[in-house]
This record gives sequence, structure tokens and C-alpha cells, in this order.
Amino acid sequence: HRGLVGIAGLASHEIRFLLDEAEQWVRLNRLPQKRDDRLSGLTIINAFFENSTRTLLSFELAGKRLGADVVNMQVAQSSMKKGETLIDTATTLNAMHADAIVIRHHSSGAVQLIADKVDCPVLNAGDGQHEHPTQALLDALTIRTAKGEFNGLAIVICGDLMHSRVARSNILCLAALGAEVRVCAPPSLVPSGIEAMGCTVFTDFDKALDGADVVMMLRLQMERMTGQFIPSPREYRHLYGLTQERLVRAREDALVMHPGPMNRGIEIDSNVADMADRSAIIRQVEMGVAIRMACLDVLTRKVRGTEGWQ
Ligand code: CP
Repeated sequence: HRGLVGIAGLASHEIRFLLDEAEQWVRLNRLPQKRDDRLSGLTIINAFFENSTRTLLSFELAGKRLGADVVNMQVAQSSMKKGETLIDTATTLNAMHADAIVIRHHSSGAVQLIADKVDCPVLNAGDGQHEHPTQALLDALTIRTAKGEFNGLAIVICGDLMHSRVARSNILCLAALGAEVRVCAPPSLVPSGIEAMGCTVFTDFDKALDGADVVMMLRLQMERMTGQFIPSPREYRHLYGLTQERLVRAREDALVMHPGPMNRGIEIDSNVADMADRSAIIRQVEMGVAIRMACLDVLTRKVRGTEGWQ
């Protein structure tokens, strides 16, 4: 079985294949009858050990719209609260013969650990500071839908690069697709060696924005800070916040993105986040359901006896 633990494990033609597959589900999801029964009889377990609104709900909707039985593990009421280990939890889930397991976990590497212990595909819904591959895929689909091909696009990712699994997955994904990826953060939030992932590092947001086609803002993840110096929220907005005045440095048709949840008034101003003609933030959520349908469909083809991916 093959799961989706990270963008790092994908070739660029596989990324494009998943984006192409998702397009049919964007169309289906816009119809009143959003149903296809290709996963009928399959069971999907969502096990989220960390909070989520968008990812959990869209994986649940994705499975249900494809006809699967979807079960959400109630982590707060689970035996992990009595001290059961992650590996024992994984082998317990495995014994229930799920056909796919979707995991979000606060520790980097936890999803791979579970994937190594179970017999079905495991999909990473975000693990610690490591990867959030379906977020990167839905972001890529949002960009492709608005801008066409990736070659020649300058895409800025600005924010808490140090703690962001979204940044890591997006840098790998967008670089593999041929975009110019510029990342920007305060010096204390730039991980060493990040350039090796295929991006150029800026600490001056105004310079990073020069002529950009896409501006992707990241949440300042206060809950993950462990002693780094960071500017106060007011200073952060002044230096790294996406304001209307600052957005004029990007191209006049530049797309504004944010994976959510947003800190309005810190990394992005409300009057930018809500720009009807420029902001793709709501469209990102729509693409999220389609991408997760594509991933569940493609990754369960083997168990359904149909052609695997590609
Ligand atoms: N973007 C994202 O992962 O949002 P949630 O934490 O709400 O799932």
C-alpha cells in the first residue's frame, strides 16, 4: 500500500496527476447532488490528535461524497488519555481493517510511525512541523486554477517558516512544479538550510513582494514558539503583515492566500483577506475538499482492484 506522508515522497508528475484528478471533484462539488459511490463499502478512519476545522471536516466530507463509511476517532475520549502509546493505538486501528487512515498529530514523524505499523494507506493531515501535504496540493490547485501553469510564477510565502508544516510542503510542491518560490520571515524564524528545499530567503517583506504573482501568508504559531525572539504583534504587523499599502508592491493581479486559521490584524489585515477580487482564501477551502477526494480515491485504487496511481 502507498499512502501520502509528505510531498517529499512525490515526483512532479505525481503531483500533477493528483491535481488533474481533483478537477473532476471541483465540478462535482458544485452540483446540488455531490455524490459518487466509488468508495462504497470502504471504511476511512480520521484520527486527529490536534485541533482542526478545515482539514478534518473536508476529509470527512470527501470520504462521504465518495460513498465511504467515515469514522472520526474521538481522541479526547480515547484510551490514549489513559496512557496508551501511539504504536498500540496504531495497531488497534489496524486490527479494525480500515481501508485508509487519516492522521493529524502534534509530533513531526508520528504519521510515518503509524504508516509503518498499519496495512492500509495512511494520509498525513499535518504532523508537527514536518509536512501537511494535502494543504500544499490544495494550494497548488488554487494557484493553477487562477494563474495557469507554474513556470514563470513568483510565489511569496511569508510568516513563521520555523514552525510551519504548510511552508515546508508548499516549498517542496511549488518548486517541484516549476515556480520561483520566495520565502520571507524574521531572521529568528528562518530555519537553517531552508534554501536547499528550492527557495530563496528574504527577511525584508517589501523586497520579497516585488512583482510577486501570489502572496501566501502563514499564521504566527504562538503555541509552537520555544524561546525564539519574535517581534511583538504590532511590530510583526508593521514588518511582516500583509496590508493594502504593502500589497501594491506585488503584481496588480497578485493572488492573496492563507491556509487558515488567520490572525486577522497580525499577519494579514481584514481588508486584504476579504478582498473579493484578489483573495483566494475561501477558494482554498473549496479546493481542499476536491483534493482530499482525489487523494482518497487514488490511494484506495489498489484495494478496490482498479489501476493504482499513474
Ligand atoms: N489549514 C489547516 O490545516 O486548517 P485546520 O487546522 O483548520 O485544519
